Amino acid sequence: MTHSSSPLHFYAQATTTLQGSVRVPGDKSISHRAIMLGSIAHGTTHIQGFLEGEDALCTMNAFRAMGVAIDGPHQGQVQVHGVGLHGLQAPSQALDCGNSGTSMRLLAGLLAGQNFSSTLCGDASLSKRPMRRVIDPLSQMGAVIQANPADPAVGRPPLHIRPGSGLQGIHYTLPMASAQVKSSVLLAGLYAQGVTSVTEPEVTRDHTERMLRGFGVKVEQNPASHQQTAGPNGSTPHTPAAATTVRLQGGQSLRATTIDIPADISSAAFFMVAASICPEADITLRHVGINPTRTGIIDILRLMGADLTVTPTGEMGGEPVADIRVRSAALRGISIPAHLVPLAIDEFPVVFVAAANATGTTTLTGAAELRVKESDRIAVMAQGLQQCGVDAQPTLDGMVIGGLGSKPGLRYQAASIDAQGDHRIAMSFVVAAIRAQGTMHITGAETVNTSFPGFVALAQSLGFALSATAPGQA
Ligand code: S3P
Repeated sequence: MTHSSSPLHFYAQATTTLQGSVRVPGDKSISHRAIMLGSIAHGTTHIQGFLEGEDALCTMNAFRAMGVAIDGPHQGQVQVHGVGLHGLQAPSQALDCGNSGTSMRLLAGLLAGQNFSSTLCGDASLSKRPMRRVIDPLSQMGAVIQANPADPAVGRPPLHIRPGSGLQGIHYTLPMASAQVKSSVLLAGLYAQGVTSVTEPEVTRDHTERMLRGFGVKVEQNPASHQQTAGPNGSTPHTPAAATTVRLQGGQSLRATTIDIPADISSAAFFMVAASICPEADITLRHVGINPTRTGIIDILRLMGADLTVTPTGEMGGEPVADIRVRSAALRGISIPAHLVPLAIDEFPVVFVAAANATGTTTLTGAAELRVKESDRIAVMAQGLQQCGVDAQPTLDGMVIGGLGSKPGLRYQAASIDAQGDHRIAMSFVVAAIRAQGTMHITGAETVNTSFPGFVALAQSLGFALSATAPGQA
């Protein structure tokens, strides 16, 4: 499987001024879940702000292939004509999850509860990623799932899912902080007899739980304290020391609803770092989702001395939203607090770029999960930053970066970077180019369409010196 986009190269150069006010595309995690839950609900779910990126479109196509009528997307609007918990039909071919781990892991949970067989496959990057983490709990519930036999310990795609003799609720303690695994088990739990519960060692994103409640499903949780809203000025409220447990009773039906999807904080993060390191920047990111299980990037950048003003503007479908103003700042190196790691897990590629532009050393530990994302983000970012001349030392579970300081001028050399099938690597080096001498050349940039369609035009509108060309046309 390959990306549907044709190959693309980025060329990015230093920038001294960034200004403007933009709304980045809709939240990827919420977009996936809106299609999934809308499909198994009764009635028509109306979605606005849907992310028209390849990952979420893979999820949409999968449900179409299982007989769900879905209108759109038209400018972020989608109508999902739900078929109810037991209304999905057997797909006639493998469901292609493209580059999307969220599609594959969440779908595995949902498909485990169906009375038909299905196969989930993906592109080269997804085909390397570990699925054992969902196969294990789903098998304990009674699912019959076979991964690629070449590497049974890791359980790589494709996944073949066959109907077993029905699912049983379990209590599962996650071995790693993973919202995808938590969500997969909860979705299977909708089809299981009795109660399914998941305990997570650290708080992870809770969009599934929030959205299930929006569809009328009773989901219990304890402790409940961190769940409701962001802390003062968009910060992450103090994380409870005790593990969190989420619980639901199987067989509950979902009622269609209306879902307004905020802008993705993980996409906004590139511009937060860009504006922080750019000599003269004053930008506003509008309507960004600031669910407290996602705001680790705000806390990390503030600890580094970033100038962020978060103005809450309300709540959309149970998800708090804010405008975020970012101005240039002299960043300093920090030790990243452990509890913020799962709350900023997708933002570390660009956090490393912030660290390269800070005064002093930044240390990240406890983030081994970064090695099994769309690429090995520790290895790929360390290598790319080293190519630029940055002192970036990878460790087993993180990185130590000697920042090049906040003095004026350009800080490191531009380099030629292969995005390695990873959208966030490509966008992070576009941000790094802001303080680089020469032209950063990024190959494999088409992967950016998985999460951030329109990235180039939006970045250019803020003042980035960025161009994109198909190979051979440069
Ligand atoms: C996601 C959870 C995270 C994140 C991914 C999206 C989700 O993955 O990295 O981009 O939507 O649940 P893990 O659960 O594997 O940490």
